[in-house]
Amino acid sequence: MKNIKAIIFDAYGTLFDVNSAAEKCKHKIGDKWEGFANYWRTTQLEYTWLRSMMNRHKDFWQVTEDSLDKSMQAFKIDISMRNELLDLYKVLLTFPEVKEVLNKLKEKNYKLAILSNGTPFLLNELVKSNNLDNIFNNIFSIEEVKTYKPDPKVYNIPIKKYQIQENEVAYLSANTWDVSAGGNYGFNPVWVNRNNSIFDNLDYVPKFQIKSLTELLDII
Ligand code: LAC
Repeated sequence: MKNIKAIIFDAYGTLFDVNSAAEKCKHKIGDKWEGFANYWRTTQLEYTWLRSMMNRHKDFWQVTEDSLDKSMQAFKIDISMRNELLDLYKVLLTFPEVKEVLNKLKEKNYKLAILSNGTPFLLNELVKSNNLDNIFNNIFSIEEVKTYKPDPKVYNIPIKKYQIQENEVAYLSANTWDVSAGGNYGFNPVWVNRNNSIFDNLDYVPKFQIKSLTELLDII
């Protein structure tokens, strides 16, 4: 990749493991924990897209609660677990290699930022609880534009702030649709494909695909 000035990370699913909240409760939820975690995540994303299209914005925490309620019902999970799951969602863990890679990138001359659906409060708490303070130049939240990814207004937030060209951004996401949207917008996206998944058919195929963020150090 050439002429990169900013390395921008999606948060949920890319830096932070969204399944780690349900996984920590697997002794109580049982074998269905993974199906439940995936259903919660899918419902949460569907609600973001639907709310953007309906022009009925609610912040990501409210959407996370709404989608949890439906998912708990669908998977017959006892209501007494609601608060525990929500509290765990506020302190999601990073994937194992994240901290080391970010520290190495920090030694180079890039702007490092998060660009996420999360609220500023949620994102700051995640960064703090994982000891990632002082890494990022900026933590950009869609709350600045009150609409969710993949609206181009979201991808425009760091471009406006840094006054750089779209193709000067390396955009890291594990979410295939977010990679397509970032690519269609003009970023250089890198798909973080941790689980050997299949890519989407959304008019964009990323030039770079990595299995973990460690591989980013070889291509940047
Ligand atoms: C985010 C979601 C898309 O962090 O993962 O924006």
